[in-house]
Amino acid sequence: MRPLSVLTFLLIASLLLVPWGTSKVQAGNTNETLYNEPYRPQYHFSPQKNWMNDPNGLVYYKGEYHLFYQYNPYGNKWGHLSWGHAVSKDLIHWKHLPVALKEDDLGMIFSGSVVVDKHDTSGFFDGKSGMVAIYTSAGETQQQSIAYSKDNGRTWHKYKGNPVIPNPGIKDFRDPKVFWYDETDQWVMVVAAGDRVQFYTSKNLKDWTFTSEFGADRGAHGGVWECPELFELPVKGNPGETKWVLQVDINPGAVAGGSGAQYFVGEFDGKKFTTEQKDVKWVDYGKDFYATQSWNNTPDRRIWLAWMNNWQYAQDIPTSPWRSAMSIPREVSLKKEDGEYVLLQEPVRELSQLRKNIHTWKNQWITPKTNLLSDIKGETLEIQAEFQLDTAKEFGFKVRKGSEEETVIGYNTDNKTLFVDRTKSGQTDFSEHFPGVYQAKMEPENNTVQLRILVDRSSVEVFGNDGETVLTNRIFPNLKSQGLELFTEGGNVKLKTLKIYHLKSTWK
Ligand code: FRU
Repeated sequence: MRPLSVLTFLLIASLLLVPWGTSKVQAGNTNETLYNEPYRPQYHFSPQKNWMNDPNGLVYYKGEYHLFYQYNPYGNKWGHLSWGHAVSKDLIHWKHLPVALKEDDLGMIFSGSVVVDKHDTSGFFDGKSGMVAIYTSAGETQQQSIAYSKDNGRTWHKYKGNPVIPNPGIKDFRDPKVFWYDETDQWVMVVAAGDRVQFYTSKNLKDWTFTSEFGADRGAHGGVWECPELFELPVKGNPGETKWVLQVDINPGAVAGGSGAQYFVGEFDGKKFTTEQKDVKWVDYGKDFYATQSWNNTPDRRIWLAWMNNWQYAQDIPTSPWRSAMSIPREVSLKKEDGEYVLLQEPVRELSQLRKNIHTWKNQWITPKTNLLSDIKGETLEIQAEFQLDTAKEFGFKVRKGSEEETVIGYNTDNKTLFVDRTKSGQTDFSEHFPGVYQAKMEPENNTVQLRILVDRSSVEVFGNDGETVLTNRIFPNLKSQGLELFTEGGNVKLKTLKIYHLKSTWK
């Protein structure tokens, strides 16, 4: 063949073959491999590919829940931090959108928040409403910057006057959470500053005034404070009483080792946070609940989620082509018990739409060496159980069980602790900090212990006693490890009720 005819032949062949070949590959991707990798969360949010850390800019606007997140568009490790973006109408099914904010001359785009500027206080929106992002520019120093969007978060413009808060001489100065405070008609910012937080106020999101600092003498101080969050909640069972909850992440020095979240319950007057709380309170006693943020602008409830990972091994968890996942969005509330304020977290009610099959039991005695659940298998499950304590020393569930794998979720009646043991959960050897047993004190209520457990392909979230004690942990079991066991040791326990639901994937 002459060269021209070879080329012609290749051209015709490619025209004929490539579209067919490509669509075949894409179809294969969509149906078989996309969001179907062995450790791919089936109903938790994860980016299609590349590295993700903190949730950012959570805001509800015009019927959409926005989820921005720390994202590396170029790889599966931390770097080139930008804001990835997804939206959802129900907090469960997410639609991926293009990267919203990319690094610039001031540095990478670290964590921050988004507000709805309803009355155009910023002047960006010609008198209408719009979205303003407040984030940390992380270059040589860390400073606070803003950007705005006039089209529901689809495109963003960085403010020319950035940074709006230049670095005040503090090395770790980041993660601004901003919200509107009605009583003083002002925006409030809480921002991490070393091992404490600072408060600023503004009328227009551009000019900020420092008002106070909190934390030097309170809380845990084993590491740097990050990603603060502040909101007001009604106190359950006490009409008229409200309290402010200040959530602050700490890395390292958290309760389960590495990074984690603490909270303070107190008062906020628009400028200053105060609390009488002396002890350290932890949001979650597992290893993988970090950088918690709540949605701004939700009409009727406070919802937050967190990054399910831990800086001790975040970059080594064995997933590809993506790394990290978010927790299930949780509704947060507050109760007062024996003079103490206690935070409660429960999966959002929208999760129930994923339930497909249900198995139920009532009033049944559980004895050692039996397994009521030997016929049930599952990789994505919701378990709801209520136990009446009796002679058992320890009881609970083993999930994602295989011939050599299991994750144990148990209650120890001697120590009154709820625990998760992931030492044999599957792949654990990528970090010495990964295998372990994590536990939290939890008093039985009227001699009963209640558990709600969410199992996914690579995570287990445990909510004890109506979400008063929570443990969130990643696990990396073999896809075939899908067995389930209800166990008791050292005596019997009475199962008052048990419901097990299989959950559908949100990515299919
Ligand atoms: C918390 C954090 C934040 C920072 C971001 C950088 O995980 O360290 O303080 O803004 O991650 O990616």
